[in-house]
Amino acid sequence: MVTVNHDYLNLRGSYLFSEIAKRVAAYSAANPDKKIIRLGIGDVTQPLPTSVIEALHKAVDEQASAATFRGYAPDLGYDFLRNAIAEKDYQARGCDIRPDEIFVSDGAKSDSGNIQEIFGRDNRIAVCDPVYPVYVDTNIMGGRAGSFDEARGLWDGVIYMPCTAENGFAPELPAEVPDLIYLCFPNNPTGAAITKSALQEWVDYANRNGCVIIYDAAYEAYIAEDEVPHSIYECEGARTCAIELHSFSKNAGFTGLRLGYTVIPSDLIRDGVEIRSLWARRHGTKYNGAPYIVQRAGEAVYSEQGQKEVRQLVDYYMTNAASILAGLKAAGYSVSGGVNAPYIWLKTPDGMGSWEFFDHLLTKANVVGTPGVGFGPHGEGYFRLTAFGDHAATAEAMERIRRL
Ligand code: MLT
Repeated sequence: MVTVNHDYLNLRGSYLFSEIAKRVAAYSAANPDKKIIRLGIGDVTQPLPTSVIEALHKAVDEQASAATFRGYAPDLGYDFLRNAIAEKDYQARGCDIRPDEIFVSDGAKSDSGNIQEIFGRDNRIAVCDPVYPVYVDTNIMGGRAGSFDEARGLWDGVIYMPCTAENGFAPELPAEVPDLIYLCFPNNPTGAAITKSALQEWVDYANRNGCVIIYDAAYEAYIAEDEVPHSIYECEGARTCAIELHSFSKNAGFTGLRLGYTVIPSDLIRDGVEIRSLWARRHGTKYNGAPYIVQRAGEAVYSEQGQKEVRQLVDYYMTNAASILAGLKAAGYSVSGGVNAPYIWLKTPDGMGSWEFFDHLLTKANVVGTPGVGFGPHGEGYFRLTAFGDHAATAEAMERIRRL
């Protein structure tokens, strides 16, 4: 008799952004005349940089001739891309990371969900609360979350690190020592950043206790302040305790193209095993590599022109972040984030619940955001807006919110 994977049956409801899309589609179908502004999911709106488009065209043309045609990509990524990443994202910042410690993939979402597979089922995970839902959902799928406590809205097998206004949305070192610690900075969803000295404390904690930090650096390009590190490998000792995840989606607009990478240093050894060898084995077995044309597009991001264009894209979105922050403050909202991150985290007005505010904003202003509670119980009473809209739509959304 066929049975299913019962760990999947433990998942609660549907994936957050699918649920939002469903609700917005229902509202839109019932109110076809309403012009909805979407500041919910962190999807980019501006076209790909010119250097990326040119690289894509060139790589497509190469596929048209037998002499330059490429079939399966190397499963861990082409050397031209791994070398560019090692040089520009790490060595240029003084981080000791080699190309053979970089694993190219189809994006940070897949990697952040898949990475748990190479760790034992009995590992205890620690996550921020609120948190990007992929980390928890994939550990539920992996049978690591225990049972759901309905009253508290928490999984009893997971160590939660509350991020609240009181602690500046910065998690504290957990008293109960976990095995795997998920950190994301600049943070999704709160937009909070971490200083290098604060991150060093996490690295020291992990090395002291034998933990592994899974560090999601998807929003690194948005860092504006000097004391905020661009990589966990800027911290001393991170090579022996940290995995880092990167995306090309938020900096260079690859949400539709799909490209990312994960760094696992050779010094990261647990249970007598080099962790990167397991990830390489997984890649080799389950993955045939990101497409050649997409990896060439990724390489173009590191060209001088590509870097300039990425900076312009980031500046474009951060102009939105500044106008959302200013607009919400002027309208009397309590807000944070939006300085080193493209997310603005606001306290819902008049004690409204997160979903109540979602409905309020959708029906009264036709603006879509993300309910904070969708990221975890400590997100209740909060709401996330993204800076990834276009300028006109973002300004219009602010005007509608001001008029509420
Ligand atoms: C978000 O809105 O949190 C992100 O866009 C989701 C993602 O990157 O997968």
